[in-house]
Amino acid sequence: MLEARELSLIYGNERNEEYYALRDINFLADRGEMIGMIGPSGSGKSSLLYILSGLKKPTAGTVYYQDHSIEVMSFNDSAAIRRKEYGFIFQRHFLIDYLTVLDNVLVVVNQSQKAWRNTAINLLEILGIADFADQKPHKMSVGQRQKVAIARALVNKPKIIFADEPTASLDHSNARLVMDILASLKGQTTILVTTHDYSILEQADRVIHMWDGRIIKTTLPSSLFDPTKK
Ligand SMILES: Nc1ncnc2c1ncn2[C@@H]1O[C@H](COP(=O)(O)OP(=O)(O)O)[C@@H](O)[C@H]1O
Ligand SMILES: [Mg+2]
Repeated sequence: MLEARELSLIYGNERNEEYYALRDINFLADRGEMIGMIGPSGSGKSSLLYILSGLKKPTAGTVYYQDHSIEVMSFNDSAAIRRKEYGFIFQRHFLIDYLTVLDNVLVVVNQSQKAWRNTAINLLEILGIADFADQKPHKMSVGQRQKVAIARALVNKPKIIFADEPTASLDHSNARLVMDILASLKGQTTILVTTHDYSILEQADRVIHMWDGRIIKTTLPSSLFDPTKK
């Protein structure tokens, strides 16, 4: 489904020294897998997620989506994949303040079709924010706005969801709700979720541990809760 081979990402600093944000990354996600990516701040989680989604170019290495290298695709082709087949949940929600909550959810799809509106309203209901559908996002709390971003990521029924610390702005019970919703999509949807909070990864199929730009190990989520398990 999604594969990366020998990725590296180098940033230069002001003294022209090169710094590896990612090094020797090999990665494979199958259809329907939910994969957690855990590691401390600065370990490369966001960089890896953006490269896997094609939003960022690696310094070396290749990402394949359904066996096609996204590096050799035209900009239009890769943008079409992102629009139709990928869903994004970022750490910051990037809502459009002059649109209503409902129209924010519908920006990625053809808004005139009633079926999309129904799907969007249904998602807002599941997330407990349907009452805000016709309001502007600035009226909502940070957590509620993150839920709008989650509805927006799910409305086009993406094949892959890229979620960068999706629960960072949520309290524990809302974080749980969001992870339950993501986990309910497992099987049909591939879900990649970065976090430094292991407690949200209970339902992941496996967990990739990152450290200093490398993948240092892959485990089952149970090893996060019981260190004697591998
Ligand atoms: N635009 C950038 N320019 C220079 N260095 C960056 C940039 N973005 C990230 N980095 C560095 O790359 C490393 C990995 O960052 P990041 O992928 O954001 O890690 P994480 O998401 O795990 O916190 C960090 O050392 C960070 O400082
Ligand atoms: Mg990050």
